Amino acid sequence: MDKKVFSGIQPTGRLHIGNLVGALDNWVKMQDEYQTIYNVVDLHAMTVPYDPAELQRTRLETARLLLAVGVDPSRSLLYFQSQVPQHAELTWILSTITGIGQMERMTQFKEKGEKSGQNIGLFSYPILMAADILVHRVHAVPVGDDQTQHLELTRDLAERFNSRFGETFPIPERITPEIGARVMSLQDPTAKMSKSDPSQASRIDLLDEPDTIRKKIRSSVTDSGREVSYDWENKAGISNLLELFSFFSGAGIDELEAEYSESGYGPFKEAVAEAIVDGLTPIRTRYKDLDEGEVGRIMEQNALQARTQAEASMQGVRAAVGLSPR
Ligand code: TYM
Repeated sequence: MDKKVFSGIQPTGRLHIGNLVGALDNWVKMQDEYQTIYNVVDLHAMTVPYDPAELQRTRLETARLLLAVGVDPSRSLLYFQSQVPQHAELTWILSTITGIGQMERMTQFKEKGEKSGQNIGLFSYPILMAADILVHRVHAVPVGDDQTQHLELTRDLAERFNSRFGETFPIPERITPEIGARVMSLQDPTAKMSKSDPSQASRIDLLDEPDTIRKKIRSSVTDSGREVSYDWENKAGISNLLELFSFFSGAGIDELEAEYSESGYGPFKEAVAEAIVDGLTPIRTRYKDLDEGEVGRIMEQNALQARTQAEASMQGVRAAVGLSPR
């Protein structure tokens, strides 16, 4: 287990099944094979308008949910990004080797910036993300499809740093699931399911009650046909539901297509909803059983350990760039 993994999630709003299918499921599975390090990225959450009291609440809620999903603190280092200042220090160092032109091509900045009023934190967001990954010198990063560009930047910065200052960082690999790397909105299957979508009906939160889940799946946007088939071009809504169904039931897409091709959308949607209800019930139960005080203590302890690890890595970085004797 000498290979390391890092990933992070923003504590903005509640986590949804897109996060679970695209990333968190791999977070949990990778605990068996890697040294895993996971963050609630609270510094990233400050790049869009927010309320401090609300951030304080959602960061703890997010940590609690990650534990409920199966991040195991006896095997994974789970902590709040802000509690390990080496992330911010490395961000500064990496920013000195990042071109403005390269940053201007980041699509997330363009999209979010238009909505939320632009600030420098949002602009340099991907450099902080690169620092999160590189500070621990990890080999792999489990994320959904939407993080591809950020991972490319991270790899690029690692290579640039290594060639300018000497071999320091491994070049991290992006790990995405074969199915479900991009879960789409239930209300608009051409848009990604997102925490920031104002429509509650567009996503299923991990803590949604069974009846809410059934209602959201029933009212999900599909097409005017009636044949259940996996065809992203003509049946994006149904294809999205098939991917979710496959994830939550463990059955292959082919099998599900064969079983439901003639059923009509109503019964198909009912079966999808039941699979999701069954999959989320244990998470909701574990979440309720977790004590907030205990979650806070876990996060504190892990941050201490993470600081020690990150500091050891940063001593090498400082020496490489000329900030301390080699
Ligand atoms: P965030 O908080 O938006 O999302 C957390 C993870 O969930 C994945 N995801 C999805 N996967 C499939 N379908 C969807 N609809 C969907 N929506 C979200 C994301 O790809 C992500 O893996 N910038 C990151 C957080 C971050 C990070 C990092 C990630 C900060 N530092 C270092 C990896 C490594 C973000 O905003 O994720």
